[in-house]
Amino acid sequence: MSLLTMIFSKSTIFDCEILQLPVVHKQSGNITSINSFENIPFDIKRIYYLYDIPGGEERGGHAHRNLFQLLVAAGGAFEVSLFDGVNRKIVHLDRPNIGLYIVPGIWRELLNFSSGSICLVLASLPYSEEDYIRDYTYFTRSKNL
Ligand code: TYD
Repeated sequence: MSLLTMIFSKSTIFDCEILQLPVVHKQSGNITSINSFENIPFDIKRIYYLYDIPGGEERGGHAHRNLFQLLVAAGGAFEVSLFDGVNRKIVHLDRPNIGLYIVPGIWRELLNFSSGSICLVLASLPYSEEDYIRDYTYFTRSKNL
């Protein structure tokens, strides 16, 4: 079994953490800078962000095989529901200097977006549809072998 397969099958929601990101305070506003291996435990290969999310919409609804991510509410607020096949938790994100670190093998759903919110995502790999598991039944079976 490869290390990454092992991470996928063995990972739990307790491996996912809230990370405090650094803030440079200025009277004219704040800056948060995120550096690979300094502020987050992976190399950033991709950045994307969700925005213009209509009220009541939900995003996510999948797991990743190999991808590590950091989710940040760069604007507004939203909730992230995490499930590892056994345990569940809901994390509320509402500050640009707080990140949610998510490891591979976690089913996530993003919901309750406030109006105008922005979900910034830092990812450890380029986009690849093969890395997604979008079938919930398949996911729960793969995690509980
Ligand atoms: P998806 O990750 O399923 O969205 P969410 O989890 O936010 O609901 O992606 C939605 C679509 O966007 C999907 O068809 C692929 C495309 N996409 C890219 O082309 N590149 C990317 O980096 C991401 C994240 C998605």
